[in-house]
Amino acid sequence: MYNSRIIGMGHYVPENIVTNDDLSKLMDTNDQWIQERTGIHERRWAVKGDGNSTFSMGLKAAEKAIKNAKIDKDDIDFIVFATLSPDYYFPGPGVQVQEALGIDTIGALDVRNQCSGFVYGLSVADQFIKTGMYKNILVIGSELQSQGIDISNRGRSISVIFGDGAGAAILSREDDSNKGILSSHLHSEGAYALELAAEAPGMGKRWVTDIIAENNPDDMSYRPYMNGQFVFKNAIRRFSEVIHQGLEANNLQVSDIDMLVPHQANLRISQYIQKKFKLSDDQVFNNIQHYGNTTAASIPIALSEACEQGKIKSGDTVVLAAFGSGFTWGSVIIKW
Ligand code: UT7
Repeated sequence: MYNSRIIGMGHYVPENIVTNDDLSKLMDTNDQWIQERTGIHERRWAVKGDGNSTFSMGLKAAEKAIKNAKIDKDDIDFIVFATLSPDYYFPGPGVQVQEALGIDTIGALDVRNQCSGFVYGLSVADQFIKTGMYKNILVIGSELQSQGIDISNRGRSISVIFGDGAGAAILSREDDSNKGILSSHLHSEGAYALELAAEAPGMGKRWVTDIIAENNPDDMSYRPYMNGQFVFKNAIRRFSEVIHQGLEANNLQVSDIDMLVPHQANLRISQYIQKKFKLSDDQVFNNIQHYGNTTAASIPIALSEACEQGKIKSGDTVVLAAFGSGFTWGSVIIKW
C-alpha cells in the first residue's frame, strides 16, 4: 500500500477586483455590514468576455501546479475536477482539461460536492494512489459564480459572499506511509439539500424550457438560495466534529495541528473554530478577505497561497476541513 502526497500547488483568480464599496453601488449593502458579518473586503469577479470560465481558470491553476510539482504533464494519470459552476450542463470540465493539456486519453472525473468538492476530490485521488492504480493525479477546484448570482437587492445576502477563482494540486505516490495524506473523512446529510442550493435547471424537475415558458421575472429557482443562519450553525458544528474525527483517527491532539486550512465560507466561522480549538493566528490560514467564498476553489487557493508564503513546511501536520451545500462536509489530515 502506498501513500499519496501533494507535490505541487497552483492557483489563479480573475484580474477584476470587486470591493464592498463597488457592491454598494449595485445593491443596498455597505462595507461595514459585509466586513462585520463575513470578513470579506473584496472578491474577484470575471467580466463577461475576459476569457475566464470555470474550465479556463482551472486549467491555469493546473498549469501552475504542474510547474510547481516539477513534473511533466504527460506523467499525470488521472484528473479530478470539482465545481458547481461547470462551463456546460454536461460534460463536466475535467475532459476540457484533458484536451487542453494534450494528455493522452486519461480518465477525468467531475465532482459535484460544492464547498466540500476539493476535499472529496482529494480523498478520491488519494484512494486511487493508495491502491497503486495511479501515480500522479491532478485535482482541481474551480468556480465562476459571479454570473449566476443576483446582484440586485433581492440577492444581496448571497451575492456579496461569493467569488470566482481556481486552485489545483498534484497528488503523487509516496512510499513513506508516515508522509502525505494520512486519512480523509467524508459526510453528507441530504435532508438539508435545499437549505443551500440552486434548484433549477434540473432534469425531470424544472428544466430551462419551463423557466422560459413561465417567463416569470420573480422566478428565483435558478439562483442560489441559502438559509444563512441555519447553514452557519450546521457549519460550525460539522467543522468541529470532522476535525476531531480526523485527529482521533491518527492519534493526534489539537496541539499537533501546525496549519488548519478551512474552507473559506465566512471569516466568523473560521474564527469560531480557531477559538474553540484554541489555535493561534499562525495555525489557521484565511484569505476570504480578498477572494470571498470561492466554493470548491477556496481550499486549493488557500493552500496554494499558504505554501507560496512559506507558511507550511515539510513535516507539518496540515488539516483541511470543508462544509457546504448538500449538506456535505469532510476533513483531510496531511503530514506535509
Ligand atoms: O460555503 C458554504 C457554507 N456557507 C456558509 O457557511 C455561510 C453561512 N452563513 C453566513 O455566513 C451568514 O448567515 C450570512 C453572511 C450569509 C448572513 O449573515 P447573518 O448574520 O446570518 O445575517 P442575516 O441573514 O440574519 O441578516 C441580517 C440582516 C437582515 O436584515 P433584518 O431582517 O435584520 O432587517 C438582512 O436583510 O442583514 C440584512 N442583509 C444585508 N444587509 C446589508 C442581508 N444581506 C445583506 C447585505 N447587506 N448584503
